[in-house]
Amino acid sequence: MKTREIIKDIHYVGVNDRTTVKFEEQWPLPYGVSYNSYIVKGVEKTALIDTVKIDAVNSYLEKIGGEKIDYLIVNHMEPDHSGSIPEVAKLWPDMKIICNAIAAGMIKGFCHVDDDSRFLIVKDGDEVDLGGLTLKFFMTPMVHWPETMMTYVPERKTIFSGDGFGTFGALNGGIIDDEMDTDIYFKEMYRYYSNIVGKYGKSVMMALNKLKPLEIEYICPTHGPVWHKKLNEVVDITRRLASYESEPGVVIVYGSMYGNTTEAVEQIADYLCDAGEKKIIVHNAAHSEMSDMISDAFRYDTLIVGSCVYSMRLFPPVETFLNAMETREIKNKTFGAFGSFSWANGVAEKKFLEFSERLKLPIAATFSFKHAMNDGTAHNPREFAEQILEARKNNL
Ligand code: FEO
Repeated sequence: MKTREIIKDIHYVGVNDRTTVKFEEQWPLPYGVSYNSYIVKGVEKTALIDTVKIDAVNSYLEKIGGEKIDYLIVNHMEPDHSGSIPEVAKLWPDMKIICNAIAAGMIKGFCHVDDDSRFLIVKDGDEVDLGGLTLKFFMTPMVHWPETMMTYVPERKTIFSGDGFGTFGALNGGIIDDEMDTDIYFKEMYRYYSNIVGKYGKSVMMALNKLKPLEIEYICPTHGPVWHKKLNEVVDITRRLASYESEPGVVIVYGSMYGNTTEAVEQIADYLCDAGEKKIIVHNAAHSEMSDMISDAFRYDTLIVGSCVYSMRLFPPVETFLNAMETREIKNKTFGAFGSFSWANGVAEKKFLEFSERLKLPIAATFSFKHAMNDGTAHNPREFAEQILEARKNNL
């Protein structure tokens, strides 16, 4: 077995992916990503926790080597973790698959492993004895799919958390956080959470509350480092993101075809800076990565959106960004919006108002201008910036 024992009786058998360009075909992977899988060796039985994406199945099975696997624990069925289940099931025909009822249906559907006698279905709080080590299962639906669960080994104070507490970034040698520089992983954690799990804040909070009474020294997620030394920091970031708590900062996302909306953005940013705001992030929606815009909008407390009108709608990249915000049910932001138009007066205001009403995100400040910024509109960006900062003060 070419594995690495990271905790007594717990071995890492995950793989790195440095070639996939976009995770879920959407989210860029500048630092790659790891698909983590673990072996837990009891005195009598050995369990494999999750598998890896099918592309890496050969190196994965080579890592596990001749080890006899008695149980496969399926915490999560997204194919980046379940893709190798058919191969694993073939290799160990006597192995039982331990999962919940929803996951069993998914395994039959996705993996064509249909034999009911292979499944051991578990519910919240159920335990399986490996001999000297216990696996205890906690149902944590919608962290990130409905079948997600977590597996706890009380004797090692270790939880296998699925996508929970995960982050982008392949593992560059180290597995546990105390043996590596974690800067990249923390930076990527915001993007990972907001892009992948962001919609499910309520479910993540329920999972965090369920885990609260447990003694945990190691968190073993399906992506990124095993958290040990920085465990509290990671839990705190997750809790803040899940409850839509933000850090001070202004994110401006805008769309402009010929530079007129851009001019308004530049003036707003200047006024914000004059007023002492240091964290100002500007995204041209037609050029910035969607995943960065989502991540920044989640992380910081103030969101400004500006758009020209395009065919009686908002500029399409801005519309796509607002859809992403709506999908993730973004909350607790100081929100401002402004529009520009040539002949379709009122369209941008109407679209922003509809967005604000659907998300229950009041518009703290707004303005619009016709054609280009001129003397008649020039004062509006300043007032707009002042109103935004005033509203933020009141929201704190
Ligand atoms: Fe890493 Fe939801 O899968």
